[in-house]
Amino acid sequence: MATPQPADLTLEEKASLTSGSSFWLTEPIERVDVPAIMLTDGPHGLRKQEEGADHLGLSQSVPATCFPPAVALGSSWDTELAERVGAAIAREAAAHGVSVVLGPGINIKRSLLCGRNFEYVSEDPHVSGRVGAALVRGLQSEGIGSSLKHFAANNQEHDRMRVSSDVDPRPLREIYLRAFEHVVRTAQPWTVMCSYNRINGVYASEDPWLLTEVLREEWGFEGLVVSDWGAVNDRVRGLAAGLDLEMPSSGGRTDAQIVRAVRAGELDEGVLDQAAGRVLRLIDRATASQEGRAASGAGVDVDAHHALAREAAGSCVVLLQNDGDLLPLDRSASIAVIGEFARTPRFQGAGSSVINPTRLDAALDSIVATAAGDVAYAPGFSIDPAATEAEQATLAAEAVELAARSQVAVLFLGLPGPLESEGFDRTDIDLPAEQVRLVDAVRAVNPRVVVVLANGGVVALPFAADVPAILEGWLLGQAGGGAVADVLFGDVTPSGKLTETIPLRLEDSPAYLDFPGDFSHVRYGEGLFVGYRWYDARSIRVAFPFGHGLSYTTFAYGDLTAQAVEVPGEGGIEVSLDVTNTGSRRGREVVQFYVAVPESGVQRPVRELAGFAAVTLDPGETRTVTTRLERADLAYWDVRVGRWVLEPGRYVVEAGASSRDLRSRARVDLAGEEVVIALTPESSLGEALRHPSAGPVMRAALTQMLAAPGEETLSEDAEEVLRMIDSLPLNRLGVFAGGADIGPFLETILAAAEA
Ligand code: BGC
Repeated sequence: MATPQPADLTLEEKASLTSGSSFWLTEPIERVDVPAIMLTDGPHGLRKQEEGADHLGLSQSVPATCFPPAVALGSSWDTELAERVGAAIAREAAAHGVSVVLGPGINIKRSLLCGRNFEYVSEDPHVSGRVGAALVRGLQSEGIGSSLKHFAANNQEHDRMRVSSDVDPRPLREIYLRAFEHVVRTAQPWTVMCSYNRINGVYASEDPWLLTEVLREEWGFEGLVVSDWGAVNDRVRGLAAGLDLEMPSSGGRTDAQIVRAVRAGELDEGVLDQAAGRVLRLIDRATASQEGRAASGAGVDVDAHHALAREAAGSCVVLLQNDGDLLPLDRSASIAVIGEFARTPRFQGAGSSVINPTRLDAALDSIVATAAGDVAYAPGFSIDPAATEAEQATLAAEAVELAARSQVAVLFLGLPGPLESEGFDRTDIDLPAEQVRLVDAVRAVNPRVVVVLANGGVVALPFAADVPAILEGWLLGQAGGGAVADVLFGDVTPSGKLTETIPLRLEDSPAYLDFPGDFSHVRYGEGLFVGYRWYDARSIRVAFPFGHGLSYTTFAYGDLTAQAVEVPGEGGIEVSLDVTNTGSRRGREVVQFYVAVPESGVQRPVRELAGFAAVTLDPGETRTVTTRLERADLAYWDVRVGRWVLEPGRYVVEAGASSRDLRSRARVDLAGEEVVIALTPESSLGEALRHPSAGPVMRAALTQMLAAPGEETLSEDAEEVLRMIDSLPLNRLGVFAGGADIGPFLETILAAAEA
């Protein structure tokens, strides 16, 4: 039977389609054979609940592979890998009859304290967009829809269902919407999930500017907008704004409101038809791909997915430091493995993304399986909040004693699960005090200390200068234990790089004074200066910069070349350089390209990531790395004309191994596009002088007035006067010309501007 169209349905049926029938299902319409489809979490694995439904991960879900959460996957800077992970999640979704996976989440990590930072990729929109798009491509390549979330400016958990993110147009576009724009334009997610919060006072779930003007009209989004679970405030207003599907079910209450509004003439039935049509199209897509799959009979290979989870986790680990090449470990060394997290893995965050893993690797077991020498274990600390000081002290003493008689001590530290979660934010970035004390006690008896971290949000590392080696594992998913062992022993050469800055202190961070806001408003006072953009603009020392990550081998960068690609409306910069593996192991290097516009006419960050490219090299091997920095990553949002503008002028490109390890630089001039603003009587003298057609007329008139008799150019003194009155509005020139009538003069200038 042909798919029904809105015209085949009654008003009530159409309204019923625009909200769920249960927590995870859309509404079926049996009369015309429209089935229900299932949408479920997401994002780094499948969370399909069979009994008991909730949005906080409280009830158990079916076993599924827990891949590294976004905080870790982002650190791989590996879009091909992210695509494979997305495809694997989709295969599991398909096997369980799920049609849409609620992810990826690509909100910007504005504050270090956001409880959900583990679910997001980065403080930077470029890398968030690239990794996000890869996940969407992967999911959808297997015929499963993604739900790009949380749209938009949802950067904290505190008061998340009401808070207004009060953010200026430039940061909104250049930081908070940019990654969404990239993913929508390049990967067309089947659905976009609107967030709970308000943006500049308007609920995302009922913001026509956000859901229709920007998302559909500007970016060309073709899919469906679904509410975050419970994000609907006023259903009729939301529908009119472009919110197609409300989830979960409202028990028919909001459907009735829609029907009433149409009958009362308050809501155009065409709006409802459009939303119902989009729901039908989503159901149609989902059933078509289910039928295709049933025909192919493909299933899920749980072992292969676990192996992929391990490979992914190995690519995510960031080697923060490795003094004296303590790592990789000598397999025959006697190793003290210390820390509760070695045997009780902290591998994912809490809330709606909780996966019930098919398997769980503990690092301790994997180390024991790989090592050739003695491995002994001591927990070192307890993560039980009820543990007393005395109990902690006893555990620490045992660990110190073990470290003293071992050749190397590997300390597994991290944030206990209850400290970070969906639903609330952290209040500090500290590791529990007993863990920091333990590091000091252990290194006092054995300086050969490797710290392995498990944390979803950034933690301060007060011991960074005192221990030789630190691995930042973030949260690595179910196979993280094995992956950490792979890295510790050198079976995997680390290649992860930070997608967020690790500052020295919380107080140094950009949103410190404007987080989490008061009385349901949070002011994004740092503007464009989020993450490294802030630390760089203020020259603030950090513990580890954005983009940082070491390897067991070393890389040399050749000279960077940058060439303008002038294609109207697209354009960009083609960059290329040689990278050589100068060490003795095969390894992967992520080369980052940062761009600055030193003579910009607007405020811009010191440098911004505009591209990256990875290369894997054997010892001694050299390869040329080439990529295109796209117009979309070079432009700024011009608030005067309300669009992206590629400024004409000089661009400086830097190739770096991190944002603070810039190895090679090139300059390139771009023709860009001049923004011409119409002149009005309130325009300034300077604006008139710089106007392409009015400028020469203005200058000629001023030269006539101010030049010495017989001179055709202005003296230095006269130019100085012009500089002093650059900002003088044209309509007030008369005041300074002894009250002269400047009307005719103004008319000439404005006419020249029209020409
Ligand atoms: C979360 C979403 C999630 C949804 C369904 C909400 O609380 O914000 O990310 O997809 O619940 O569980």
